Amino acid sequence: MTDERILPITDDVSWIGVLDPGLITFDIVMETKYGTTYNSYFINAEKKAVIETTKEKFWPTYLSKLKHVTDPSEIQYIIVDHTEPDHSGNIRNLLAVAPDATVVGSGNAIKFLRDQTGHDFKSLVVKSGDTLDLGNKTLHFINAPNLHWPDSIYTWLEEDRLLFTCDSFGCHFCHEAMYDDAVGDFDDAFTYYFDAILRPFSKYMLQAIEKIKPLDIRCICPGHGPILRSNWQKYVDLSAKYASRAIAMPNEKRILIAYVSAYENTTLLAHKIAEGLSQSCDFLIDICDIESMHFSKLEDKIAHCSGMILGSPTLNQNILPQIYQFFAAVNPIRDKGKLAAAFGSYGWSGEASRMIETNFSLLKLRVFDQNVMVKFKPHEPDFERCISFGKAFADRMIEMYQLSCNL
Ligand code: FEO
Repeated sequence: MTDERILPITDDVSWIGVLDPGLITFDIVMETKYGTTYNSYFINAEKKAVIETTKEKFWPTYLSKLKHVTDPSEIQYIIVDHTEPDHSGNIRNLLAVAPDATVVGSGNAIKFLRDQTGHDFKSLVVKSGDTLDLGNKTLHFINAPNLHWPDSIYTWLEEDRLLFTCDSFGCHFCHEAMYDDAVGDFDDAFTYYFDAILRPFSKYMLQAIEKIKPLDIRCICPGHGPILRSNWQKYVDLSAKYASRAIAMPNEKRILIAYVSAYENTTLLAHKIAEGLSQSCDFLIDICDIESMHFSKLEDKIAHCSGMILGSPTLNQNILPQIYQFFAAVNPIRDKGKLAAAFGSYGWSGEASRMIETNFSLLKLRVFDQNVMVKFKPHEPDFERCISFGKAFADRMIEMYQLSCNL
């Protein structure tokens, strides 16, 4: 689909972004069943400005849109609220046709862009409270770090009452209509996007929402998905709700037992460990075979647990691919400090527990000082060990839970 449309937001501000309906995954692992959009905005002020660019491969379409709204060489400012290449991918190309432009962003953003573009450019570092005079319009900058990189800021266009937020309040949802009141229901895309991109940064999301409360917002212009011209408050409120819930999660009483099993031996261990857990605590026990589990479901389970026990057979002195996928779904920013342990059946050497514990440690989880490894098929004494192990793990979880409640 070639999209040449420019969409008005106010008399002087236009959407000049691009549609990417065929995108299957974002950042390699995030499923994007509705595709996405890379939103860029043009401010037709006395000093012309562009906010965000687009992914690099869309340069021909993007340049064509830019030329519809202005002579690119007249662009004086390029505002970057976030420098992940889905937004900053065309900064280098844009600077080539707008050589006098000054790139405006946080200190981190400018540093990141120098590495991304490989050359120097005119820049202006901004922080909360700073303003930029566009002649007849004024931009205000708001620190909003870690949404979703350390470089992120929000930009407020005072006269038009528009808030530009890049990843915040966005979603991977591609629809030609582009306005939130014209694209139909996109709530599931919004929720999924928050979970995948922003949930690890929930504390920062809440801080940013506090900062924008005093603004008399007409429209929120995110970096992905629908332009929020009618229902922006709904999506700010949803973001606050999801972020608050995520922050409360360390106190959530849920233990994940995840495993793979070739001959049901590791399965038997998993269920006996669960028995021990349930004898000693009232935490919800989420026990699951992850052999065929989709990455996003696995990630969801890890995000929602407060402790995890991971089981793998040892195969040729190694753990299984699904166990490596489990580690890929752990997010140290989100999961740091959760209690984690290993178990499994093995035949000859039994490296699985050490490999699991080492990976947990590297991912900043708190490694439990016990594990259960059983040679070949478990028998009654092994089951008793599993139950004792489960009880000990439960006791430690209760201690940690009480500690977190007293903080
Ligand atoms: Fe849409 Fe973090 O980039």
